[in-house]
Amino acid sequence: MPEGLKRSEMTRMVEVVADADELARSVAQLIVAHSKVAISRSGLFTIALSGGSTPKRLYELMADPNEVFRSQLNWSKTHFFWTDERQVPPDHAESNYHMAYEAMLAHVPVPASNLHRVLSEETDPLQAARDYESQLQTFFSLETGQLPRFDLVLLGLGTDGHTASLFPGSELLQEKQQLVGAAWIEKLKSYRFTLTLPVLNNASTIAFLVSGAEKANVLHQVLQQTSHALPAQLINPTSGSLVWFVDKAAAINPDVPQ
Ligand code: 6PG
Repeated sequence: MPEGLKRSEMTRMVEVVADADELARSVAQLIVAHSKVAISRSGLFTIALSGGSTPKRLYELMADPNEVFRSQLNWSKTHFFWTDERQVPPDHAESNYHMAYEAMLAHVPVPASNLHRVLSEETDPLQAARDYESQLQTFFSLETGQLPRFDLVLLGLGTDGHTASLFPGSELLQEKQQLVGAAWIEKLKSYRFTLTLPVLNNASTIAFLVSGAEKANVLHQVLQQTSHALPAQLINPTSGSLVWFVDKAAAINPDVPQ
């Protein structure tokens, strides 16, 4: 590693693609490639899906029988988790699980036992977070204090710099022990569940998906490190890779007149 470069600098890549469709295609290729390596190494592939709207096209592409990706992913050996979830039932329009299920998981031969969702219908959000944490501990056979290591984590970027459900000012940004947090998000007037930074940063590969002109400002801030308060800036894999998949609309430098 060249002198003076931190690991996070060495392993951070930004791939600018033409548009949202190209972004979905590039990430689909990444998923298939990483799944093959993971399955050859350990017999399974663990991926944490992000929510919001950006990844929907990716999920549809993965399931599309007329595309190459569906047949290239070994669905029976792929285990799906979620980076974060809203406090709504799994069939609710706002549910991240519901979005991924409708766009992809309902249309592919993935065993139901491979879907590891937050039990977001639980009335006690803190209990739901604890439940998800114990799901992770069981699946990854974790000892106390150990972190799960996802083969791949997908993340989005909010215009306020949030990622997963780690929002600016959230006390979860300082969480070092828990694997899963539940926090009341005042501006959303709702609870959100999220994997915590230690878990996210323990992933083998993290891929951000950022699309659209409305993200140009915040993306510039995050990538140029012009501020240090944004949650997305705290995503730095401790021993993994970070790849930003960004479409041209989001990659425009807001400081340069177009
Ligand atoms: C969520 C997501 C969240 C999302 C960003 C970007 O639950 O909303 O996990 O972190 O990735 O808000 O959302 P869009 O893709 O809709 O812009």
